[in-house]
Amino acid sequence: MQLRRLGRSDLAVAPLCLGGNVFGWSADEKASFAVLDAFADAGFNFIDTADVYSSWVPGNKGGESEAIIGKWMALRGNRSRIVVTTKVGSDMGGDRKGLKAGYVAQAVEASLQRLQTDYIDLYLSHWEDPETPLEETLGAYARLVEQGKVRVIGNSNHSAATMASALAISAKHGWPRFENLQTQYNLYDRAGYETELEPFCRQNEIGVTSYFSLAKGFLSGKYRSPADFAKSAARGQGMASYLNARGLAILEALDTVAKEKAATPAQVAIAWLIARPGLVAPVASATSVTQLQDLIAATKLELSAGDVALLDKASA
Ligand SMILES: NC(=O)c1ccc[n+]([C@@H]2O[C@H](COP(=O)([O-])OP(=O)(O)OC[C@H]3O[C@@H](n4cnc5c(N)ncnc54)[C@H](OP(=O)(O)O)[C@@H]3O)[C@@H](O)[C@H]2O)c1
Repeated sequence: MQLRRLGRSDLAVAPLCLGGNVFGWSADEKASFAVLDAFADAGFNFIDTADVYSSWVPGNKGGESEAIIGKWMALRGNRSRIVVTTKVGSDMGGDRKGLKAGYVAQAVEASLQRLQTDYIDLYLSHWEDPETPLEETLGAYARLVEQGKVRVIGNSNHSAATMASALAISAKHGWPRFENLQTQYNLYDRAGYETELEPFCRQNEIGVTSYFSLAKGFLSGKYRSPADFAKSAARGQGMASYLNARGLAILEALDTVAKEKAATPAQVAIAWLIARPGLVAPVASATSVTQLQDLIAATKLELSAGDVALLDKASA
């Protein structure tokens, strides 16, 4: 497999990152292990999670996804072959949130413990924290990199302006810089990324990873009418916002390309992201090994310029 370099860092990652928000939510431990095993057995190394996953499930408190990944890596003895991404800053309850230096130092220890490891490959600020100066957070990250607890840093959901300030602060102090932006991007949700973030990241060699790469499952084509919402207890109800004229036009274009390539709409939607210059890896989750096979097949699917033009036109 052709690995891709993340930003200017020395992380070499597969062109598909396995999303971990389903672990402890729509995939229990057994299903999660099956998906993780199939992913690693197919030669993939890149996994995404966050301290807060999956705290929204009744009875959970956050950390469930990290704990499942940690247990799996310990049981399989494969820590050194996996590139683990996790995030800090989301609301974990009480005052455990944000990007203040003291909290980051505390939160990283909790993540390391749940992941059963002594280093995190890629550590991301989950959201901007307007109450904390960027310099404070970046200084905290610099210490974690120096201590060997974190290899590379990045961010999620930051604006181009905030990233520009962050790069300037890192350069001024000689600190590690953000090498990754993880942002919402897929065939349906395009403008938020393409307008400002994409040119900024390409210009500054920040490696991009997209989340909701399948628009939470919509781009698999399994939701064509409200009756289909029952196909996923976890995600179905959220599909109403995609089921409109534009959404259906995108599905039609995905169907056309999928038919011509003997592929599935999900494979085509992921292949479209992989083909996008500057995009290092789409992040997508699977709740079963069957779904995962689709994601894996996408990495081998080559779209022609004509296919991309058809998909671009339908989703413009
Ligand atoms: N940085 C951030 O703020 C942020 C925010 C959100 C997510 N993320 C990350 O990005 C990852 C990806 O996002 P996501 O998991 O929410 O959404 P997604 O990847 O767009 O959609 C994945 C969901 O679609 C369904 N699916 C997957 N493959 C399928 C197939 N072949 N056929 C039919 N259905 C299929 C599954 O749900 P069902 O089985 O339930 O249908 C699966 O959980 C997350 O896991 C997380 O790691 C990051």
